[in-house]
Amino acid sequence: MSNTDTPLPQSDKSVRHLRITQPSPWVSRWAHLIETSGTVLDLAAGGGRHGRLFLDRGHTVTFVDRTAEPLADLRGHERAEVIEADLEDGSPWPLAERRFDAVVVVNYLHRELFERIIASLKPGGVLIYETFARGNEDFTRPRNPDHLLKSGELLQIVHGQLQVVAYEHGLVQGADITGVKQRLCAINDLSASIREDGEPPAHEISRV
Ligand SMILES: C[S@@+](CC[C@H](N)C(=O)[O-])C[C@H]1O[C@@H](n2cnc3c(N)ncnc32)[C@H](O)[C@@H]1O
Repeated sequence: MSNTDTPLPQSDKSVRHLRITQPSPWVSRWAHLIETSGTVLDLAAGGGRHGRLFLDRGHTVTFVDRTAEPLADLRGHERAEVIEADLEDGSPWPLAERRFDAVVVVNYLHRELFERIIASLKPGGVLIYETFARGNEDFTRPRNPDHLLKSGELLQIVHGQLQVVAYEHGLVQGADITGVKQRLCAINDLSASIREDGEPPAHEISRV
């Protein structure tokens, strides 16, 4: 699904994507966990504000969206790849078996993709996910419950597959959009333990 409950004309969609240009603080906060020079997938990228953050940090970034027009300026960038693909129309997954050092998904939810998203992480790869959750209908779109995460849903999805480094659920104000969000940062290293008790490696969660 898109987080657009009412379909907009193509040109209006592009304008909406471009309206928000600053990366989500949640994505910025966890960017340091991604391997230096690692590859990043910005899924349902919109205007690419998160992929652009990672380009600035020196990463190689693959942007995927059904509308590539807001990413047109990136064509020719030596570390940017733009793939125009509909992720929900039943077409083959556009990334085949490719794996990334990070996958970033913000303000987009199509539950059928979660298996693909997790399988797209390299060992040690980082998933940064943030989108709207139930309760958001009191503030802004999306309001369709199908397009809103349930309490704890991201935790349930990655349970047993990824190590959760951070999770939040609640009202977010003063960021890109005021609304109820669920946010997750998780790492594909549950099986990477070198400890007797099988615990996965610890990651830096605070520089204070
Ligand atoms: C609310 S925007 C979020 C954009 C970006 N992640 C951000 O945070 O700025 C949702 C994005 O999902 C894309 N999208 C919606 N449905 C899609 C589909 N079926 N296949 C691919 N992209 C889709 C839209 O084109 C739009 O760019």
